[in-house]
Amino acid sequence: MSLAVARGEVVALLGPSGAGKSTLLTAIGLINPPTSGRIVIGGQPVLEADRALVDLRAFRRQHLGFIFQKANLIPFLNAVENVQVAMEINDMPPRAARRRALELLDYLGVADRAKNLPDALSGGQQQRVAVARALANQPSLILADEPTAALDSQRGRQVMELFRKVAHERGSAVMVVTHDHRSLDVFDRTYEMEDGVLKNGANKT
Ligand SMILES: Nc1ncnc2c1ncn2[C@@H]1O[C@H](COP(=O)(O)OP(=O)(O)OP(=O)(O)O)[C@@H](O)[C@H]1O
Ligand SMILES: [Mg+2]
Repeated sequence: MSLAVARGEVVALLGPSGAGKSTLLTAIGLINPPTSGRIVIGGQPVLEADRALVDLRAFRRQHLGFIFQKANLIPFLNAVENVQVAMEINDMPPRAARRRALELLDYLGVADRAKNLPDALSGGQQQRVAVARALANQPSLILADEPTAALDSQRGRQVMELFRKVAHERGSAVMVVTHDHRSLDVFDRTYEMEDGVLKNGANKT
């Protein structure tokens, strides 16, 4: 298959269970490299067949952001610390990391929850913190696998709208696997997969 996501664009990846959506996302995310093909991120070829052209772990940490169905926050760190730690592992000094973490929580509308542990947050709030964490290192590509599956439709929509805002305002490319057909209008483009094949895989960008 061949597909491209442009900077500033938010695209959806749809398809029935078992179609290969998560597999594709983990391939693009350099978690589970494909056995053939080529992956280019931010203009830089990073993988060719199963040969890494860059340090994949470092590249992932610096240029990619991931969001999953569950927020997977660190349970003993509060909201701001959960975001902050993502920058500290990229060697940002703690004070600067904290400032940026607070700005991000504010941007995502959960600044008033900064000092709360994940347990004290609602599912939607936890997911917003997870989005803040994914944005922390200014990734050029954000990959989200069913990020709203655990949320009610209103909260789910809010999170989808955040992705759109992030793509359009921050210039990241955002790719979201979803089964939620009610929020499809927030996406610039929709890809559909079935049996491991992209049904509308023509490159438009
Ligand atoms: N680790 C694995 N080893 C072997 N087969 C796998 C593995 N992970 C997934 N598969 C298979 O690959 C196919 C695609 O799985 P994938 O998880 O990508 O589907 P999906 O589109 O994300 O489905 P869902 O909507 O249910 O999450 C399925 O047939 C699945 O059983
Ligand atoms: Mg999946």
